[in-house]
Amino acid sequence: MAAHRLKVAILISGRGSNLQALIDQFGPAAASSPIEIVLVLSNRPEAFGLTRAGRAGIATKTVDHKAFPDRASFDAAMDREIRAAGAELVVLAGFLRLLTDGFIAGWHDRLVNIHPALLPAFKGLHTHARALEAGVRFHGCTVHFVRPEMDTGPIVAQAVVPVRPEDDENSLGLRVLAAEHRLFPLALRLIAEGKVTVEGERAIVRDAAFAGGILFNPLGA
Ligand code: GAR
Repeated sequence: MAAHRLKVAILISGRGSNLQALIDQFGPAAASSPIEIVLVLSNRPEAFGLTRAGRAGIATKTVDHKAFPDRASFDAAMDREIRAAGAELVVLAGFLRLLTDGFIAGWHDRLVNIHPALLPAFKGLHTHARALEAGVRFHGCTVHFVRPEMDTGPIVAQAVVPVRPEDDENSLGLRVLAAEHRLFPLALRLIAEGKVTVEGERAIVRDAAFAGGILFNPLGA
């Protein structure tokens, strides 16, 4: 009998480059995958990510937030679609609407987000510009379970990139995005393989390799 594959719904709002990284690893063309992407759902009908999913042969739905009188009814409509698709885990891959506490509670420890900063630093928007403004020497991205307070929740995995003196928002953002494309599949694979549990408000990862050593930036003479 085939091993159980975790059924995942992916929520997007835009270009979907992270979605593409997940399709490349877990989509129908992947040789073997612990994940089945059962739905890609967008709140914006023109999101390019819908085209990416369609090309890969993955089911898509649009739930346009503009068609709903309030956030609760919009979230309820999304929730219905996600459950109808049989999803066991919901993945936010550049989904740029705030979710209601009710929706989040309905997917407790089964709702994952990627954020373009090393949480808990730089929650919210414009993370790359704010990292440059703060003068930090390292920046990066975080995959975490979602809690009602924005950009909080148990951290599954993080990737770090150096900030270089010549960086602008664009160059730093591209470096972080490249890290996101590697981190997100890695974190979802760990979850799908049952290696991640939430204890208190911390995520514990078993049977994974962890980085060692110290990173310096600048490197010194
Ligand atoms: C990604 O950088 C993701 O981390 C960010 O939106 C971008 C979506 O790009 N998400 C957030 O800022 C969530 N607060 P993509 O559509 O190409 O994956």
